Amino acid sequence: MKRVAILISGGGSNMETLSRSMTGDHPARPALVLSNVPDAGGLVKARAMGISTEVVDHRPFKGDRPAFEAALAKAIAPYTPDIICLAGFMRILTPEFVGLWQGRMLNIHPSLLPKYRGLNTHQRAIDAGDHEAGCTVHVVTGDLDDGPILGQARVAVLPGDSTETLAARVLEMEHRLYPEVLRRFAAGDNTPVCLPGPDERPKTGERSD
Ligand code: GAR
Repeated sequence: MKRVAILISGGGSNMETLSRSMTGDHPARPALVLSNVPDAGGLVKARAMGISTEVVDHRPFKGDRPAFEAALAKAIAPYTPDIICLAGFMRILTPEFVGLWQGRMLNIHPSLLPKYRGLNTHQRAIDAGDHEAGCTVHVVTGDLDDGPILGQARVAVLPGDSTETLAARVLEMEHRLYPEVLRRFAAGDNTPVCLPGPDERPKTGERSD
């Protein structure tokens, strides 16, 4: 059974769906939820699910990233995770830290990478006049929002969409995509997941005869 540590900074809705997915014949179980934000809503949810939590507040480190990451590594180590899932963890990690978990750290990003690395992804998609948006789960490398893609989910950008309406629609897909990718990844399968699945896609060019 693989052990998973989930790193969050906020509400932790992805953390919750990931954690709830790890039951039954799933090849992994949640071992730790860690936040850099002491009052992150996700910590309360994790405790309610009976998952161990840790907090490593980045603020006392005043921008000393290596010192923050040393504290992070120290807090994670006793839980001996096999896989780390970043789920709305809003700190940039150095290549040195990522290297500790090479090939074993996943991230979910709210855009169709390689488009829109970084922040404000939904507004940037709307501003660009994109017809579709979505989310990506990828293996974390030393480069921001880069690394081998393990899955993507697409949604339409609708006329009149605001950042909030688009973000909500993408988040729903995040909750489907990340658990599906984690299940495969934990079983050693890196075949990319594509959502919506073939049976949900609008049929084009279908013959009626
Ligand atoms: C999610 O939309 C996730 O994709 C995004 O933060 C949100 C966290 O929501 N992550 C990033 O922007 C990482 N660059 P959650 O706390 O409810 O899971």
